[in-house]
Amino acid sequence: MIISPQFKKNILKAVLKYGTPSYIYSKDILEDNIYKYKKSFRDVNVLFCYALKANSNRVLLKIISKNGFGADVVSIGEMLSALSSGFDKKKIIFSGVGKTYEELSVAADKEILFINVESFEELKVLSKISVLKNKNIGFSIRINPNVDPHTHKYISTGKYGSKFGVSAKEAFEMYKWAKKNKFLVPIAVHFHLGSQIFKYEAYLQAFLKVEQLIKKLKCLGINIRIIDLGGGWGVKEGEVMTPPDKLAAFLSTKKENYSFIMEPGRSIVSSCGFFVVKTLYRKKSGVRQIVITDGGMNDFVRPSLYGARHPVINLNGSNSIVNNFIDIYGPVCESGDFLAKNVNMKVPDRGNLLCFLSAGAYGYSMSSNYNLRRKPAEILVSGKDIKLIRKRQNYEDFLEN
Ligand code: LLP
Repeated sequence: MIISPQFKKNILKAVLKYGTPSYIYSKDILEDNIYKYKKSFRDVNVLFCYALKANSNRVLLKIISKNGFGADVVSIGEMLSALSSGFDKKKIIFSGVGKTYEELSVAADKEILFINVESFEELKVLSKISVLKNKNIGFSIRINPNVDPHTHKYISTGKYGSKFGVSAKEAFEMYKWAKKNKFLVPIAVHFHLGSQIFKYEAYLQAFLKVEQLIKKLKCLGINIRIIDLGGGWGVKEGEVMTPPDKLAAFLSTKKENYSFIMEPGRSIVSSCGFFVVKTLYRKKSGVRQIVITDGGMNDFVRPSLYGARHPVINLNGSNSIVNNFIDIYGPVCESGDFLAKNVNMKVPDRGNLLCFLSAGAYGYSMSSNYNLRRKPAEILVSGKDIKLIRKRQNYEDFLEN
């Protein structure tokens, strides 16, 4: 992924004004990712429901909703945020294995497109709510198709043994049971295999299993015409998304029979985000060259949690490759608090600004106040315009609660 000198200048300007650690987003790259999805799937009837968990900054949400996207939410917080950021309620779906009675009830009141049910017991709770409210509730059932998406074990969800979804066999019984309640309206069948999936064949295998289920349901008089293929399309750190053209081509062979939902999160926002930290101190630990920065695992946890390697560039120092391997750590009191290890780069000077690429997804949204550190600022760059879109937290925020 190439960053233009002008954009690099803007990142520098932004952090000089708003400080570090900060997340900087490019509106152009965000819109380009949205456009790529629309272009790949132009031949099929598809609703894109952006997965808010990847990044729920409301300025970014407004850009995404303005482009006609729906939303995939997993909590009432995300649902309210989506509704107030311009997403049409009839384009919102609510997923998650552990929705509480209260959450299901709020979702029913908001009349969203559908609730994605993940267990028989949840379906029974939803049924009770629909009767008590005397109200139709749209639902889908999440199938675990037992397909291996070949990704990191923490973000793999579509194999038996995972907590997500139910088998196709159980889903059949659930749709059949739900038929007894006129308020439960079956809208779709859903699967989501995991995240960082690079091979479209995994979607294809799951799709064919879901299609068999839909055919069986037809025999019971249950007609489902929407297949929700979840999210998960991968983007390598430091690269832009390869458009999911092959998946789109496959879906277009099925377009007479179905319409589709996709729930992309990472592939929409990853490449548009940059996480910038400042070099504080350098030292040696045995043979290792250690660099300590002002941003840590509480701000950006992906390297520590998943071993993700996000490329890093020095914004105001040398980027020459010098066969010198450094480890970049944060200030948090844990040995696992690193941003990158074994990076081939010249030791940055104190004060040098280090910029981690592909930090737009699961960066800020997974940040925490661990060590009572403030959450970073978020800034949007659009052409020459540099706008603060979320303030750095105040210390007062901790003291007030
Ligand atoms: N739909 C459902 C039901 C999901 O659980 C997820 C992500 C998505 C859609 C969006 O998937 P995406 O297109 O972003 O891959 N924190 C991890 C990723 C966790 C993904 C959780 N579910 C990471 O930083 O790699």
